[in-house]
Amino acid sequence: SKKPVRVAVTGAAGQIGYALLFRIASGEMLGKDQPVILQLLEIPDEKAQKALKGVMMELEDCAFPLLAGMEAHSDPMTAFKDTDYALLVGSRPRGPGMERAELLAVNGAIFIAQGKALNAVASRNVKVLVVGNPANTNAWIAMKSAPDLPRKNFTAMLRLDHNRALSQIAAKTGKPVSSIEKLCVWGNHSPTMYADYRFATIEGQSVKEMINDETWNREVFLPTVGKRGAAIIEARGLSSAASAANAAIDHMRDWALGSNGRWVTMGIPSDGWYDIPKDTMFGFPVVCEGGEYKVVEGLPMDDFSRERIAITLKELLDEQAAVKHLV
Ligand code: NAI
Repeated sequence: SKKPVRVAVTGAAGQIGYALLFRIASGEMLGKDQPVILQLLEIPDEKAQKALKGVMMELEDCAFPLLAGMEAHSDPMTAFKDTDYALLVGSRPRGPGMERAELLAVNGAIFIAQGKALNAVASRNVKVLVVGNPANTNAWIAMKSAPDLPRKNFTAMLRLDHNRALSQIAAKTGKPVSSIEKLCVWGNHSPTMYADYRFATIEGQSVKEMINDETWNREVFLPTVGKRGAAIIEARGLSSAASAANAAIDHMRDWALGSNGRWVTMGIPSDGWYDIPKDTMFGFPVVCEGGEYKVVEGLPMDDFSRERIAITLKELLDEQAAVKHLV
């Protein structure tokens, strides 16, 4: 049987953690033949550590055959030791009256420390997914704080936006979600993201032609996907958790095991593709194979797409500029 791999999860006692850990331990992320050791990180706070212990008791009680071990940590330098996969979920939410700059700064401190710890102790092949918001900028900060690791190992989660867009298209066309191919989401994980179905197909037919309604695209589809997070908070009184955990599983599974030729969206450091400045942590269409992602290049742009991509890029560059002095 396979040798266990080490999976670190931060914010492990939070909402997303609770929807995520059981699925990792059951083999949904890395395969039903891959044992895992969970390295769980929470803040040193007594309440958080106690809650983490409770989650670990429940993990024990599932008696998952693939769960080869688990550890509780309060320091990233021990939590990330030899880790093969790191899901950085924990971050500081915006408190009442907190300015955006302050939010970026407190999260900057967290992701600098975690980036340095990954740099120092993680596997040299570690695959890092940042979920904690602002996800793209936090991932960028962690990457910049880990100069000895390949840049390509740092990614941000756009998959929830991608999955939200898939479901909206499925509902609009009346076709199953699984039949939709070549959808992508460009940019920042924020309401400025640009979900793009210009290239999408269902059973070989163009989705754009099937829908044939540019007003729906601009006035219904894009705002629905962009503001979905806020709509969930409004309805549930809590932010998306199960769907976020599901997207994290999808992102890591496809990255590790391949996307079977299908396009998926990942936030990755740009290599200059589509004129996005190098290193910007940006949502791109990718195909995954053999543990690597490859950007889908050469897609044509129209004026509307260029405009939307410029908006989400500007937001990201502004976020980066606000934290540049920290990294
Ligand atoms: P939560 O507040 O329920 O849990 C967060 C946990 O992280 C808490 O237990 C907290 O103690 C812990 N934490 C905070 N700082 C930490 C640190 N430095 N090290 C380790 N643990 C730390 O929040 P929830 O709902 O689980 O969401 C987590 C994050 O994911 C939030 O930032 C949220 O905005 C973000 N998110 C991102 C999505 C995406 O698509 N990229 C979608 C949904 C949520």
